[in-house]
Parts: sequence; structure tokens; C-alpha cells
Amino acid sequence: MEYIRMENTGAVAVLTVDRPKALNALNSHVLEEMNEALDSLDPSIVRVMIITGAGEKSFVAGADISEMCTLTKEQGSAFGRKGNALFRRIETLPFPVIAAVNGFALGGGNELAMCCDIRICSENAVFGQPETGLGITPGFGGTQRLARLVGLGMAKQLLYTARNIKASEALRIGLVNAVYPPDELMDAALRLAEQIASNAPIAVRACKKAVNEGIELGMDDAADLEVRLFGDCFETEDQRLGMGSFLKKEKHPPYLNR
Ligand code: CAA
Repeated sequence: MEYIRMENTGAVAVLTVDRPKALNALNSHVLEEMNEALDSLDPSIVRVMIITGAGEKSFVAGADISEMCTLTKEQGSAFGRKGNALFRRIETLPFPVIAAVNGFALGGGNELAMCCDIRICSENAVFGQPETGLGITPGFGGTQRLARLVGLGMAKQLLYTARNIKASEALRIGLVNAVYPPDELMDAALRLAEQIASNAPIAVRACKKAVNEGIELGMDDAADLEVRLFGDCFETEDQRLGMGSFLKKEKHPPYLNR
């Protein structure tokens, strides 16, 4: 692959968007390769994925403006559908995904970060949805996920003004969970990934499903969903391992994912 690197050393996979000359902007080719990279993962082995950008300046500086500038209405819709489908695929992967935002996360870059389960960033990160300043709306899920993450009022302000915000403001509004010096970001992402990967994978995946699907439901249906997933855990070996170790006052051995 030309623009995507996937390092998969067991439980933690790291996907890097690697097109630094264009600040890792997403053209059709990058989107296709990202899909290919996801195809290559074995979901029975991977427990957490980290997404980051190559270079020291940018996570992803958006969808590729030079590709978009001559699109027709139909081609624009098709490009939006392609990006939206990929980001929905990432959002609904069975395992958690961490965005390690190492610089510009603008437009499609912020949208990529937002389809991940958890976002952490470096002090030099910059977030924003600049689309209205370019004569378009976000097209890879930005209007929907930004409102869900930071609330309607703040999302609308960011969308209408096209204003970029720094890491400290992204932290304040809840767009990211933590900010690190640039040279500490990847270690922090890997530590977080290892911590998640050390817990019972079936339970972690069930939490992801419960939160993602439950948030779309009324409270009664959401509680039913949680109860079903909670009950399912009791037929796993990892539940017996975890609870058995606790009662024996021992540290649990590595979880088996079954
Ligand atoms: N698309 C295509 N090329 C891009 C790009 C993008 N989104 N972002 C940066 N680049 C390219 C630049 O054109 C430049 O290429 P050349 O060296 O060939 O001229 C190279 O990356 C380096 O960029 P700059 O020289 O501009 O770097 P800078 O440090 O001066 O500025 C920046 C950095 C503020 C991120 C600036 O590049 C910028 O504003 N980029 C565009 C950001 C943007 O508007 N993103 C949203 C796109 S729309 C979208 O994403 C729609 C959607 O929802 C799907």
C-alpha cells in the first residue's frame, strides 16, 4: 500500500495514514487503502487499534481539496458516501479504536478522529471543521458526530464559523480525553491500548456495543440491550477466570478471549 501503514503485532494494531506531503489528506486512493488495511486485520486477534498520522505536523488535514474541487453534485455525493461508509465501518469495528491525533485534524481528519472510540492528542494538535469556509458541508460524518460528542450548541458554532481550535480547547469541550507533549503521544496511546487489551476482550467489545447501540435507543430498550450483553458474559471462560481470580485474591492470568 502507498498511503497506509498497518503494524499489527498481536493484540494492538496501529494504522498510520502516511501521505505527509499533503499533510495526510484523504483522497479516494487513501480511503480505498484504509478499507484494504481493515480487511487485513484478524478480529479474533486484534483487541485494540490505534489510528495516527505520519510526520510531526498532521494527523489528517481533511479530505483532499484538489480531488474535490472539480466534482459534480453526483460525484460529490459518491465521495461523501465513500468516506461516510469507511468511517462508519471504523466506528462499528468490534474492538475499540483510539485516535492518537498528532497535529492537524481538520475536516475529514476531525471526522476520522470522531469515528474512533477514544481521542487523545498532542499539544500541537488543531481541530476544526473548515468546510463552510470552502463552500461545502462536512461530508464524512462531521455534522452528526460533532453534535453527539460536544453538544448541539458548540457543534453548530464550530460548523458555522469554520474556526479551528487548539488542543486545550478540544480538551475543555470534551472532544479529546487527554493532551500530551508530542513526543509522548504514541507511548500514551500504546499504554492506553495495552490497558484495554489486558481486560476481557468479549466484555470490552460488549461495552462498545452497549454504548454505541444503546445511545440510539430509548432508556428501556437500552437497558434491555445492556442486560442481554451482561448475561452473555456469564457463558464466557473469561468471566469465570476474572471472578474466580478475584475470589482467590489472585491476579487473573491473561484473558483467553473466550
Ligand atoms: N487537501 C489537499 N491538499 C492539502 C490539504 C487538503 N485537505 N491540506 C494540506 N494540503 C497540502 C497543501 O496543498 C500543501 O501542498 P503543496 O506543498 O503541494 O502546496 C501541503 O499539503 C502542505 O500544506 P500547507 O503548505 O498548506 O501547510 P501549512 O502548514 O501552511 O498549513 C493547514 C497547514 C492549515 C492544515 C493547511 O494546509 C490547510 O488549511 N489545509 C486544508 C485544511 C482543510 O480545509 N481541510 C478540510 C477539507 S474539506 C473536508 O475534509 C470535507 C469533508 O468533510 C469530507
